[in-house]
Order: sequence, then C-alpha cells, then structure tokens
Amino acid sequence: MNINGFNAPSMVATAIVCGIGLVIGTVLTAGAQSDPAWGPKWTANSELILPQDYHQWVFLGAPLTPNALNDDAANFPEYHNVYVQPQAFSAYRKSGKWPEGTIMLKELQLTIPGPNPDGSRDEVSGRGYFPGKRNGIDISVKDSQRFKDTEGWGFFNFGHHAPPYAKTAEAMPADACAGCHIANATEMVFSKFYDPILKAK
Ligand code: HEC
Repeated sequence: MNINGFNAPSMVATAIVCGIGLVIGTVLTAGAQSDPAWGPKWTANSELILPQDYHQWVFLGAPLTPNALNDDAANFPEYHNVYVQPQAFSAYRKSGKWPEGTIMLKELQLTIPGPNPDGSRDEVSGRGYFPGKRNGIDISVKDSQRFKDTEGWGFFNFGHHAPPYAKTAEAMPADACAGCHIANATEMVFSKFYDPILKAK
C-alpha cells in the first residue's frame, strides 16, 4: 500500500526496528547504571582490576587476630584494614544499604615484630601491636547482576604477600569466600565491626 508516496509496510518495519533499538538501548543503559563511574573496573574477561586510589577512601576499621591469640597460627595475623569508596559510604549512611558498585577493600598489614613472647613490643605509648608492612588484599564487590548466585557480591584475592599485588583477579569460587559471608555476615558485609564509624553522628 502506498500512502502519499510512502510504503506503509516498510514504515511499520522501520517503527518496529526503532522500537527494538529503543528497548535494547534502555536495557544497556540500565546495565550501565549498575557500574557507576566510581565503581569497579573490569577486564574484557571479567577480572576485577585492583583500584589504585584506595588509601584515599573511607577507612572503616581494622579487625586484628594476632598469632599470640590463635595458637601462633592465625590465618590472618595482620590488621585487616577495611576501606570503602566515599560515594558508597555516603549512600550507605543515607539508606543503610550498600549501593551497586560498592567495593569493600581489606588490606592486610603486619604488626611490627616485637621482642615480647606474644609478639608485642614496647613503644612510648605503651606495650602493644603497631602497624608494619602491608601484606595482601582481599576485595568484595556488590554487583547484583554479575554475582546473583552469591547474594549479589563477588569476592577477589590479589595476593597474601608484600606488594606488588596482582593487578587483576578473577572471582573466587563461592565455597572459598562467599559461603562464610552468606552464613555469618549481615547482607554479606561484617558491618557490626564498622558500625562505630558507619553510624557515627
Ligand atoms: C570463615 C569465614 C570467612 C571466609 C572463608 C572469608 N571471609 Fe572475608 N571476612 C570474614 C570475617 C569474619 C570478616 C570481618 C572480620 C575480619 O576481617 O576479621 C571478613 C571480612 C572481609 C572483608 C571486609 C568487608 C567485610 O565484609 O567485613 C572482605 C573484603 C573479605 N572478607 C573478603 C574475603 C575474600 C576475598 C575471601 C576469600 C578469599 C573471604 N573474605 C573469605 C570471614 C570470612
């Protein structure tokens, strides 16, 4: 059929193609929203790229499980220094939820070796443990699409040793990391240890 010189079936076809294009465009945009500009960066084969500026993020706390309290064989005898992006921190303070793109970065930091039997040392402030060399990085990332099988969080290890750390890391199997967080944490993060800072007024 020809209306005023236009071919009606081809106009319909064009409209359908445009409609599909619009839907695809919308889906792509929605997908992009889950990776904010401040969020995680991925390689082409879905490895997480280690963030570079994390020492400028918000410091949430430093759980410490020293060898002396763990039969001289703590899995992680270091301070567990935990950082999160300032944008995720602000969003959490407003809503009580970690936004898509949140990175919880735990950098391990050894205590300075000490002469006392429990590995402690005496400094002018007193006897205790003091931060020494950096010794590894673990990360968890919130991405509900990518990690829907593990409650929306993916887990990554960039090495348990002195820097330089790995530049990229693939997601760890669920039983290596996510399982324990699913069983024991609050919405995948051990927030109870960070509440004094997360909820500070
Ligand atoms: C047996 C339980 C368990 C396993 C397995 C485990 N974690 Fe955790 N994780 C914890 C606990 C408890 C904390 C908080 C206290 C601490 O750091 O000691 C924590 C804290 C973290 C944090 C800081 C944010 C938070 O949720 O508190 C990150 C990041 C993290 N773990 C990543 C990993 C990665 C990566 C793996 C696997 C390589 C892993 N975890 C395996 C128990 C576990």
